[in-house]
Amino acid sequence: MPTLLTSRLTTISHHIDEEQNLHPEATGEFTSILNDLTLALRIISRDVRRAGLNDVLGLTKDTNVHGEQVRKLDTYSNDVIKRAMLRSGHICIMASEEDDDIILTPSNSKAKYVLVFDPLDGSSNIDVNVTIGTIFGLYKRIDPYSDETATIDDVIQPGYKLQAAGYALYGSSTLLVYTTGHGVHAFTYDPTLGEFLLTKENIRLPHRGKSYSVNEGYYYKWSENMRQYVDFIKTPSSDKSRPYSLRYIGTAVADIHRTLLNGGIFLYPADNSHPNGKLRIVYEANALAMIIEQAGGRASDGEKRILDIKPDNIHQRIPLIAGSKEDVIECESFLKGEHPMQKII
Ligand code: AHG
Ligand code: MN
Ligand code: MN
Repeated sequence: MPTLLTSRLTTISHHIDEEQNLHPEATGEFTSILNDLTLALRIISRDVRRAGLNDVLGLTKDTNVHGEQVRKLDTYSNDVIKRAMLRSGHICIMASEEDDDIILTPSNSKAKYVLVFDPLDGSSNIDVNVTIGTIFGLYKRIDPYSDETATIDDVIQPGYKLQAAGYALYGSSTLLVYTTGHGVHAFTYDPTLGEFLLTKENIRLPHRGKSYSVNEGYYYKWSENMRQYVDFIKTPSSDKSRPYSLRYIGTAVADIHRTLLNGGIFLYPADNSHPNGKLRIVYEANALAMIIEQAGGRASDGEKRILDIKPDNIHQRIPLIAGSKEDVIECESFLKGEHPMQKII
């Protein structure tokens, strides 16, 4: 009896080519940029995994065996991405968490794409060997046919203008999760091949989950409505839908990835020491919000859709509530003081 072969072997390059066909106007630049970005992510993955060894091999924080300056992993990752993105000549301007100001490229006036990124998310987890990641978003410049130098306005576009977004996760394996607006797809890196292989296509979030992800240490800094929401999901219910379990890694991209796969809700809310939350909208929240929405979830600042918010500056902070649609809507109703349970309390 002949067998029907269905599970094709797909690399990230194959997939980007296929996605490229969904963006006919992108004429190959898209493919070239995303392939250069995956090269940078493979280099960062290799060096993240060596980070612990640097000390063992006598690589101090200051110099390495070649006498080169061994810089902190996040500034090193920052340089790797910036240098990789110069190759294609298709990027005109960049913004990074590690650079105070915009980064113009030599091909500035001719290129028409914009990259925003957090080179290493979860830096506080590097030294304790906990999952960290890289977050990125790709825009077209506001006027792709302009021959003027790109400006900060090309970087602080609202998230709904993103052409692509995604993240790498340096955990038990290295994952790459991305979307170009046609679903969310995950690839696992095989270091023996040097390839990212497709492992999950069209990831969909459950409408409701069973876990929440927030730093409860700030409980007494939150608004009363946020405290009431978290109290609510921790209170056992007769239908056993509550309590939720708490999962918090402290690396946004890892907490979001678990929420993407299992459902539930991630929260980095405002508090009285972070009036606008801690996460940055341009290179963290927007990309994560696009991924969550493309997988059928919802992402807001507690009130407004993240992707609709026009950033004022590169490093603007924003509260982020993201995950399963029903969970985020329920949290938003608490934050507005409109949830029926708040009438009883
Ligand atoms: P980064 O390492 O890029 O500065 O980001 C760290 C962020 C984010 O990854 C995580 O969700 C958050 O910091 C954790 O903050 P708390 O330690 O305040 O919970
Ligand atoms: Mn970060
Ligand atoms: Mn960072």
